[in-house]
Amino acid sequence: MQTSERLRRLSPSETLAMSQKSSELKAQGIDVINLSVGEPDFNTPAHIKEAAKKAIDENYSKYSPVPGYPALRNAIVAKLKNENGLEYTAAQISCANGAKQSVCNTIMALVNPGDEVIIPAPYWVSYPEMAKLADGVPVTIPAGIEQDFKITPAQLEAAITPKTKLLILCSPSNPTGSVYSREELAGLAAVLAKYPQVYVIADEIYEHINYMGKHESIAQFPEIRDRVVIVNGVSKAYAMTGWRIGFIAGPEWIVKAVNKLQGQYTSGPCSVSQKAAEAAYTGTQVPVEEMRQAFQRRRDLIVGLAKEIPGFEVNIPQGAFYLFPKCSSYFGKTDGKRTIGNAADLAMYLLEVGHVACVGGAAFGAPECIRMSYATSDENIVEAMRRIREALAKLH
Ligand SMILES: Cc1ncc(COP(=O)(O)O)c(C=O)c1O
Repeated sequence: MQTSERLRRLSPSETLAMSQKSSELKAQGIDVINLSVGEPDFNTPAHIKEAAKKAIDENYSKYSPVPGYPALRNAIVAKLKNENGLEYTAAQISCANGAKQSVCNTIMALVNPGDEVIIPAPYWVSYPEMAKLADGVPVTIPAGIEQDFKITPAQLEAAITPKTKLLILCSPSNPTGSVYSREELAGLAAVLAKYPQVYVIADEIYEHINYMGKHESIAQFPEIRDRVVIVNGVSKAYAMTGWRIGFIAGPEWIVKAVNKLQGQYTSGPCSVSQKAAEAAYTGTQVPVEEMRQAFQRRRDLIVGLAKEIPGFEVNIPQGAFYLFPKCSSYFGKTDGKRTIGNAADLAMYLLEVGHVACVGGAAFGAPECIRMSYATSDENIVEAMRRIREALAKLH
């Protein structure tokens, strides 16, 4: 039984491992609060669900075009123009089974064996693994809490080599919640302008969960515009993680390459979900704002409580729904039974002793931190932080 070398190079998902352990404890009747999930706790808004029901009745049950129905792509074109001030044509849009496939498609379409893919750390767990799937070489740029987990133009320039093909930039960020301002993006764009062989994937899946005001895209800078591929989708903004619709917007030749790949691999995404996504983009945006406000309230709540925990160093996330405290001051401590060696040990300790599920930072390229998702109720946040504080107080 021998799997391919390509597969053996992949790391299994640490987020999934934690939720499995958490389910095991729950099955034993233990009341675990789960802060390890990466999805909104809200239900999909009613008008979107209605559009999907209508699509079923209207027999949207056949294969769609590989990049998605023209109506959905036109709705995305309008969204990019109205919300982001960016001009694209429908031929520059390709829809896929979630933003995850959109990122992977783009990497597969651009990266040759040995090409370097620059990934600022902390990063979303899948980026380095996807780069490895394409036989590319992930090159990480460390950005710690002291720089609000954001890279500087000087760091970017120092990481670029003749082999660099791609930069993957995620703003708002999973796992840190950090958001790049227009000025910060302009600084990065100025560096990229000097290196015409470098492309950018701008993962903007958390665009609408932003506490800074307006979302800024690195695609807005004309000097690099023809090298930027925006990735976005309906999963987080519209509470539609299970519907699996994401998209890319970028240069037509890259979109064509992605369509070629997708045509041989998965075909167009689910027809009914596409009609639901079209309703999401063309219908009322009121639920998006309501969910954003709820996330902002929870952000304020969890940041306030986390700041009171001794030994936690906390940034103030400006987007997404994650808190990423630095907790390395607990490494080397013990409760008498077990010693905390790293963030994975700490996450396991918090799960087994505090009954709160978080994720160790190593999988995100930040082994001194843990990730907590606050996409849960206010009561759960308050109780989870109380339990964490109590469990940590036992460590000496
Ligand atoms: C940064 C980032 N990009 C992409 C995705 C994938 O989104 P989707 O569910 O649309 O595939 C996620 C989901 O967790 C994410 O956190």
